[in-house]
Amino acid sequence: MKKILVIPLGALLVSTFFLSRPQAQEPAPIVHAADDGLALTPPMGWYPWNVFGEEPQNERLIKEIVDALVASGMRDAGYAYVGPDEGICFSRGADGRLTPNLERYPSGLRALGDYIHARGLKYALYTDAGTRTCSTAMPGTKDHELEDMRSFAEWRSDYIKIDWCNAEGLDIVRTYTTLHDAQHAAGRPVVHSLCSWGEGFPWLWAARIGHMWRTTADICAPGRADWARAMRMVFANERLSAHAGPGHWNDPDMMIVGMPGLSDAQNRSLFSLWCMMASPLIAGNDLRSMTMAAVETLTNLEAIGIDQDPLGLQGRILWTDGNIGIWGGKRLFDGSQAVLVFNQGRYPADARIDWQDIGIDPKAACYVRNLWTRQTQGPLTGGLSVGVAPDDVAFLHISASDVFPLPPIITADSYRVSLRAENRAPRILTGAVTVTNRGSAELPVWTVRAGLPAWLSVKVVKNGRSQTFVNTITTAGLKKGFYHALVRADNVEPVSGLPMSSLYYVLDLEVVRDVSRK
Ligand code: GLA
Repeated sequence: MKKILVIPLGALLVSTFFLSRPQAQEPAPIVHAADDGLALTPPMGWYPWNVFGEEPQNERLIKEIVDALVASGMRDAGYAYVGPDEGICFSRGADGRLTPNLERYPSGLRALGDYIHARGLKYALYTDAGTRTCSTAMPGTKDHELEDMRSFAEWRSDYIKIDWCNAEGLDIVRTYTTLHDAQHAAGRPVVHSLCSWGEGFPWLWAARIGHMWRTTADICAPGRADWARAMRMVFANERLSAHAGPGHWNDPDMMIVGMPGLSDAQNRSLFSLWCMMASPLIAGNDLRSMTMAAVETLTNLEAIGIDQDPLGLQGRILWTDGNIGIWGGKRLFDGSQAVLVFNQGRYPADARIDWQDIGIDPKAACYVRNLWTRQTQGPLTGGLSVGVAPDDVAFLHISASDVFPLPPIITADSYRVSLRAENRAPRILTGAVTVTNRGSAELPVWTVRAGLPAWLSVKVVKNGRSQTFVNTITTAGLKKGFYHALVRADNVEPVSGLPMSSLYYVLDLEVVRDVSRK
């Protein structure tokens, strides 16, 4: 078979070609999105569109999906962002604010967020930058940016996907910048997910104002997984590897892993490609009825560890060998690297990987871990040969050591503490949030950010891989009413010293009657 080297200048040429295309804009104010400490690794979660489209989305469905996320082990594998897409609001009130669609969401949109947060998950919502959303079911944010971002913050959304339908005549950079500024003004940390399907070349400018941007059209029509179409998304996204990094990711769309019509090999391959490209891992299948094989694919922690690597490099095709593509360029936080061998042909095929072709000294002895068979070979010098079945992959972790550390994957039992103070006499109330690192490095104790209200103190207690945030409330002198505090905490990945995505949760306190001072 003929080996064809893929020139890694691809992304550079694409950028140069596209650079002249976006319209002139003022520089975006505020921070590079990465500076806000959000999405320092690719967001993980679930979104409804691929399987459901608009119509069946409602409170019951989303709650069932949330429960399945937890029960299937996906939450504990790092999937966090979950929520509805189209159809949460059909109209605006006289004050211009969005009116929640109570027929579909009878408990209201804040209550849905509370349900999600109480189960250790983050609340994702959807809107559109134009006059209406893509299905035209919902009003878009045009001319209501601040009001809408305030509503999303009041509903406690942690992630907002903003579509680009019905946006004729709008300047894309200015519009998404206005939305970013409105999100900041609304005062709640939120992952800004731009969805213009590559229109306006967001990879060239959106890192300043967003955390992820769609690079391609929809991966499938609702309910109809399409392997060939998904592969087009992969190769369009692959060219953009130079533009991804911590806090700013190329998004080739929700995954179709586990949807009817895909083989186990195709599920494995698609998942590996997403991990290799440091793509947001947003599942798009029906979590209530997936096969065990799909669960095992979606929760393979060693593969997820490649996606969630703190260096945040997006892998790319290094060379092709017949129908086989060899993907690399994904150095990992401990100095090891990931290599993916993907067979797009109709027959089983072998590929040879020589160390020098992936930047390793040919004399070096390396260990190779296959992330799907979970077998380790080595020490090997010079390189290795692998056989790969059609539509399948060999997903390899190559290291000088036979220990393959997993980067931190942080999960929580809850992102909301809710307490009630009922007595007139002062009391001490406590509530806890426990976060667990599913990765292998020992994390330092989380540092809680300053700025908590006087009635709240937070102490972090470490217990092996878990750390408990003990929240202590002193009710003395509090007036009747509702109080809340956003507790944020920071940490670093101990091997690389890189910052980790900021952890935060909400503490809600209801004071039923005025409390005396003593
Ligand atoms: C667009 C997006 C999809 C989905 C729908 C909702 O097509 O690309 O992911 O959000 O809108 O209408």
